[in-house]
Amino acid sequence: MTVIKGAKSKLFEPLTIANGKITLKHRVIMAPLTRNRGTPLNKESIPENPNRVWVPNDVMVEYYAQRATEGGLQISEGIPPSLESNGMPGVPGIFLPEQVAGWKKVVDAVHAKGGYIYAQLWHAGRATIPAMTGSPPVSASASPWDDPEERYTHAPVGATEPPRYIDNPPIELSLPHIKQTIQDYCRAAKSAVEEAGFDGVEIHGGNGYLLEQFLSSNINKRNDEYGGTPEKRCRFALELMDELAKTIGEENMAIRLSPFGLFNQTRGEQRVETWGYLCRRLKEMHPRMSYVSFIEPRYEQIFSTEQKDSFLKSWGLSNVDLSMFRSIFGNTPFFSAGGWNDQNCWGVLESGAYDALLFGRYFISNPDLVRRLREGYPLTKYDRSKFYGPMPNGPEDGYTTWLTIEEQEEEARK
Ligand SMILES: Cc1cc2nc3c(=O)[nH]c(=O)nc-3n(C[C@H](O)[C@H](O)[C@H](O)COP(=O)(O)O)c2cc1C
Repeated sequence: MTVIKGAKSKLFEPLTIANGKITLKHRVIMAPLTRNRGTPLNKESIPENPNRVWVPNDVMVEYYAQRATEGGLQISEGIPPSLESNGMPGVPGIFLPEQVAGWKKVVDAVHAKGGYIYAQLWHAGRATIPAMTGSPPVSASASPWDDPEERYTHAPVGATEPPRYIDNPPIELSLPHIKQTIQDYCRAAKSAVEEAGFDGVEIHGGNGYLLEQFLSSNINKRNDEYGGTPEKRCRFALELMDELAKTIGEENMAIRLSPFGLFNQTRGEQRVETWGYLCRRLKEMHPRMSYVSFIEPRYEQIFSTEQKDSFLKSWGLSNVDLSMFRSIFGNTPFFSAGGWNDQNCWGVLESGAYDALLFGRYFISNPDLVRRLREGYPLTKYDRSKFYGPMPNGPEDGYTTWLTIEEQEEEARK
């Protein structure tokens, strides 16, 4: 059977999300991408009083606008809903008025091009350090990192190297602290939708951050109502989504999950039991949710075949794919991310496996990715060294400097 590529493929058919409120004109979605290009609020950052707050700036406005398309969907970089959730320098949160105003400029620029944008709310949990938050990192339990050598991503102000996570252990969230954390998310979601104008809110429930720390049996060691069984480990995520639905409306919320992820040392078991229960409950409680977004398991890139097999064995599986979650969610729009490119993206939606594909790294290096896929132009390879700021040559470098196909052709003629 010939696989249809380009404009006639299902990637370029409309898709309705948000329970009928939004009809996308195509299904090439920009994945959430942390790029650390925000402006520090406190310009005099010193070790005794480090800057912990960043605001969106004009370069960020340009970056998102460059990648916006008529009827397209972009998911923002992970946005901390509170100071305590701050995961990385250069990432603007959405808990201060200056930040909300900055995000509004980003949203307005995307809307001006006819695009849609969701805010991804991201709580790092234990994957942060006190220099970023001004308080101890929080998590489901006070579980230290398994690997004593794993380090934080950035060196704090005044230090020469990133600290080890094990030297910055998390505290276990108390019951009132859990309630407070959920309220932080809800306040941020309300500001995102009502003030900044985002079209919806996606909760980052994957990649080993706070939600996944609750879901993971090697990190969540609680024996109260938030831990001890797969069902109880799901309680934090489910309560959060219930409260969020009350705050912004079920059709305006979405969740991102990585059921077979291992990032940030999520080495827990009972994957099928835990994520299966979570998804069944979400579908039951919030059938009108905007969409669900899943991350593909891609162990080949990280582990040897033996390591991969030993993980799968510990979960009681011989192979992994996302099909069981697709079945659970039925008609809820279902997105997939992880490794899609201009070779392997064709025929996937036609097969019925997913409703839309997210592109991350190729959206970084191809501001006009949607056009390139539609019209069959080659893709520019990304440059990993410029993914995460700060950049010595300024925030634009490797961020807004990528060329469109026309600009490349123009360059070639010079
Ligand atoms: C530079 C970079 C930053 C990322 N930041 C986020 C993020 O803030 N939130 C998130 O959910 N995923 C994040 N991801 C994961 C991507 O959304 C995506 O799942 C991943 O890049 C795989 O897709 P790809 O193969 O198309 O790049 C990030 C990935 C990269 C490369």
